[in-house]
Amino acid sequence: MLAPACSARSRVSDVSLAFILVLGLSACGDDASAGTGGAGAQAVAGGAGGLAAGGGGVGGEGAAGGASFDWNLPAGVPKPKVPEDNPMSLEKVELGRHLFYDERLSLNETQSCATCHQQALAFSDGRAQGLGSTGELHPRGPMSLTNVAYLTTLAWANPALVRLEAQALVPLFGEFPVELGFSGQEQELLARLEADATYVELFEAAFPEQPEPVSLDGVAKSLASFQRVLLSYDSPYDRYAYGGDPDALSEAAKRGRTLFFSEDLECFHCHGGFNFSDSVSHEGTVFDETMFHNTGLYNLGGNGAYPADNTGVFELTGVPSDMGRFRAPTLRNIALTAPYMHDGSIATLDAVVDHYAAGGRTIESGPNAGVGSENPFKSEFVNGFTLSPSERADLIAFLESLTDTTFTTNPALSNPWSRP
Ligand code: HEC
Ligand code: HEC
Repeated sequence: MLAPACSARSRVSDVSLAFILVLGLSACGDDASAGTGGAGAQAVAGGAGGLAAGGGGVGGEGAAGGASFDWNLPAGVPKPKVPEDNPMSLEKVELGRHLFYDERLSLNETQSCATCHQQALAFSDGRAQGLGSTGELHPRGPMSLTNVAYLTTLAWANPALVRLEAQALVPLFGEFPVELGFSGQEQELLARLEADATYVELFEAAFPEQPEPVSLDGVAKSLASFQRVLLSYDSPYDRYAYGGDPDALSEAAKRGRTLFFSEDLECFHCHGGFNFSDSVSHEGTVFDETMFHNTGLYNLGGNGAYPADNTGVFELTGVPSDMGRFRAPTLRNIALTAPYMHDGSIATLDAVVDHYAAGGRTIESGPNAGVGSENPFKSEFVNGFTLSPSERADLIAFLESLTDTTFTTNPALSNPWSRP
């Protein structure tokens, strides 16, 4: 049911979509067509791809692909699930890292993934809306890639986009908006990579059994593998809550934590668990939760509408109650990823607290005027609350304690091209 809507949403050109299907990378995650595509991929890949996606059962996701990989995680941090058709390896991570930071990955050589996903900003870019390589504005903001490996769905509101392998093709080949601009130019991308001896070596190391190691399938898989190691677990909050260091958190942040997890504020209902999001899975979880919520950010015309270019899950399903429903993002590194919300329409954490305290945002005038707290599709967990100035400061101190500078300065995740 979601397949046609999904391809509309991913907005990859027909040519590129055909490519994606040949490669066995479903643009829509592992539905039935991915099974067929998976078989195709095996043929293309000479069987080196291992288990076809279709064989993996629901989601095709399993522990197998990550089993022998050394994630180097402290005790208590769960291992990400890895698709069986793309097992982790250091070689793939290294190749993916080179691709992620390479401006040759845009047709006009002005942008890489890292243009919009910068390490110092927890792999976001500080913009309210993404700005593509040809100057087109994305309706939504570039997302932090912190712990993206644990997410059950990708993007702000796309229940059908569940694999990082498929997601990587959206910025590369998407046309609405153009991001990296390679739609219809797949051969140009491959030619660039094949012309660089460094890449030929990296691809051969990452995909040793492929007769033609440099491939789009390899680009997508290695970008996914690199993104699966963008793992953040060393914030002051982590050192306090999991690392047994009672002094890692200020008293203010400790009080803020209590507020965050209170039934009065309800934040934890949607931003709960170790990743502060309710759309999370990892090794050991049986059911993958996919949750989307309307937080009362808009209420155009008083009938619950959101601005036409950003209607959330509704854009895919057309179901009225899906209006304004978005994924609850992780709050890890949230102090680094302003401006906030899918369209960057809230500038500061303080103003985010205003939004929730009012039980939804009121916009007085202009095209988006409306009383968000009266949005008929709003979640029952966004009800408003009152905080004293010191409680508000405590809550924000807690949110700031989720900043992990080990992650944002980790050399292993940085641009490999600028190394001495
Ligand atoms: C022009 C800016 C831009 C570029 C370049 C870009 N992205 Fe993004 N990225 C975005 C935006 C905007 C979103 C949110 C998309 C949406 O919700 O529709 C996003 C979302 C994502 C997500 C989903 C994250 C989540 O939390 O669900 C992933 C993964 C991602 N990008 C990876 C990549 C990779 C890999 C590349 C390079 C191949 C890349 N991006 C290039 C702007 C960009
Ligand atoms: C009903 C579920 C729900 C509850 C309760 C909730 N949130 Fe959210 N939160 C979301 C969703 C969904 C978004 C994205 C909304 C959008 O973009 O329209 C979001 C976005 C955010 C953002 C911006 C994230 C970003 O990357 O831009 C912050 C910060 C945030 N919430 C903090 C909180 C705090 C603090 C509380 C408690 C006072 C809270 N949330 C309660 C679901 C919820």
